[in-house]
Amino acid sequence: MQKALTLYDTTIGKKAVLAVTGIVLFGFVIAHMLGNLQVFLGPEQLNGYAKKLHDLGPLLWAARGVLLLSVIAHIVVAIQLVSRSTAARAVGYRLQKSAITSYAARTMKISGPLLALFIVYHLAHFTAPGVPMGSYEHSRTDVYANVVSAFSIPWVSGVYIVAQLLLGFHLYHGAWSLLQTLGLSHPRYDGKLRTVAQTIAMVVVFGNLSMPIAVLAGVVK
Ligand code: HEM
Repeated sequence: MQKALTLYDTTIGKKAVLAVTGIVLFGFVIAHMLGNLQVFLGPEQLNGYAKKLHDLGPLLWAARGVLLLSVIAHIVVAIQLVSRSTAARAVGYRLQKSAITSYAARTMKISGPLLALFIVYHLAHFTAPGVPMGSYEHSRTDVYANVVSAFSIPWVSGVYIVAQLLLGFHLYHGAWSLLQTLGLSHPRYDGKLRTVAQTIAMVVVFGNLSMPIAVLAGVVK
């Protein structure tokens, strides 16, 4: 009994880590999207914003540190939870989950690793070392030019568009499980909570999709 209780507590503990780091990463995704949307206000605005961020110096590095630790903890704990549930299945001692829950879990198992791959690609592309994806020069200061040059290449925009759709699924199911981990789920208002999770995910997806699409359409150039 004691052992089962400890195991249960640990699972809840891991879910709490997943939830807290998820909230940090979610905050970053929203802030990052709002920052990037300044591409619609022109080069001076976006490049000025990027310069302000870079000028934060140690503060920026502290934020990057928190972000990196959150990503690592989020991935490690997610892998531990997935292997735990797989091990439970191997000994045939696992409660039958509802179709909706296992669909959500499956989606997370696919979108999570693909998003991790996207983040590595995205950092190499726009941040360090800044690999141009076509015949243009990556600039350390002209973030606007980097974004427009990159998204003018259809396959690059295609990669970003697919990644944002995956991010949408991940945020939707992530927000939904977070609400359950926090104990906010209740049959009386689950419908409303689901709508909140869907709306958040859709705002981020549409906000992020608008950038490659606007460049491809020639609205941002
Ligand atoms: C269309 C969507 C996106 C655009 C246009 C975009 C654009 C950019 C740009 C231009 C930079 C470099 C900024 C600079 O040099 O100052 C950057 C950095 C970064 N992006 Fe994105 N991004 C997008 C989506 C995402 C998503 C979905 C994630 C994560 C899930 C993400 C994570 C990051 C991270 C971690 C950095 C590094 C921040 C730093 O250097 O401190 N981005 N992004």
